[in-house]
Amino acid sequence: MNDSALYAQALPPGPVDPDAPLTLLGGMTPAAFMRDIWHRKPLLVRQAVPGIVPPVSRESLFQLADRDDVESRLVSHFRNRWKLEQGPFAADNLPSLKARQWSLLVQGVNLHDSAAADLLGQFRFVPDARLDDLMVSYATDGGGVGPHFDSYDVFLLQVSGRRRWRISSQTKLDLVPDLPLKILADFTAEEEWVLEPGDMLYLPPQYAHDGVADGECMTYSIGFRAPAYRELAGHFLAWLSETVEDNEDLNGRYADAGEPATAHPAQLPAQMVRAVTEKLSALRWSGSMVSEFLGAHLSEPKPSVEFAEISEIALKKYNKLALSHGVVLAPGSIALYDRTHFFINGEAYEPPSALARWLRLLADQRCLSAAEVTACADLPDLMETFHHWALEGWLQFGPASL
Ligand code: SIN
Ligand code: CO
Repeated sequence: MNDSALYAQALPPGPVDPDAPLTLLGGMTPAAFMRDIWHRKPLLVRQAVPGIVPPVSRESLFQLADRDDVESRLVSHFRNRWKLEQGPFAADNLPSLKARQWSLLVQGVNLHDSAAADLLGQFRFVPDARLDDLMVSYATDGGGVGPHFDSYDVFLLQVSGRRRWRISSQTKLDLVPDLPLKILADFTAEEEWVLEPGDMLYLPPQYAHDGVADGECMTYSIGFRAPAYRELAGHFLAWLSETVEDNEDLNGRYADAGEPATAHPAQLPAQMVRAVTEKLSALRWSGSMVSEFLGAHLSEPKPSVEFAEISEIALKKYNKLALSHGVVLAPGSIALYDRTHFFINGEAYEPPSALARWLRLLADQRCLSAAEVTACADLPDLMETFHHWALEGWLQFGPASL
């Protein structure tokens, strides 16, 4: 049995109090930030994380970039030409540290490093349903990805070295054609700052920006994806036809008794078009179905996420360890809930209320302490569910040293 997968590396930070002023937000409360800034306008916070110690060293970042299960990109701007390469990258395949103007971008670092996950946890005043991941970018002097905009809300936290950010509220967002990267054709900076370690810049989606390393540096992007309606609609319709088996409207098959013989065999039968139109327009969905779809869809981990399955642990032994260590969601697990459902990693449950209470606490805290597990130990269904998730690698015990 792989013990390192059984036990969490550390306890996750608890939920954030919306009404307590945060250094991270320059003394603003999360409530005020969400009301006045979020998704509306940029915010520069000097010393958002005072005395920041880079959670991930350059060497550890390069090791992550060499893994198959980690998404990484290399952007270089040598001899005035933009180049984009996809990882994995063996360390000796990266450009020299002495070469200027290249960046290594590594996605999902929070899944592999507990200090990075902790940092991400500080931003949980934004709903998890919006959270994407923590990306780390390492750049040599002059490195960057060019002036661009993102479809994300993003907190750009300077972790080591310095980076010069220039930003613009411009609405002209045409891109330079035929480049491997999305680079703005015209970028006119309106504001400019050099960020030092611990400084942070928040940008809403579509806000033009350009960050250029001033010497070797590392920047963390804490990104929040706003799902595109078109994309959601496609997934929802697939979910509607597959998941909701009792969708009466879709029962049965097209029947065409009485269809006349045709001299134009390639022509779509008008009666078929009519019948299908009628069936589709009878499709209905409720808010609670949409909620069930969103919970399942948004709790689906990215395809690259791998869980360390546990081959065997008897339920009795499992319960004993859970009671003494508590339980912690694995870093890759996404847990959400609505009024009636609990979602984890794409699966939807409709737990009875005695269980729902604990599952919601688990999702909000990302853990249950030993005392909390002890308080719910008389719910055998819940303990069996935890056991099942532990075997899947979705739920770990609290840190072994506790
Ligand atoms: C970077 O850190 O190099 C790019 C981040 C961004 O501009 O979104
Ligand atoms: Co960007």
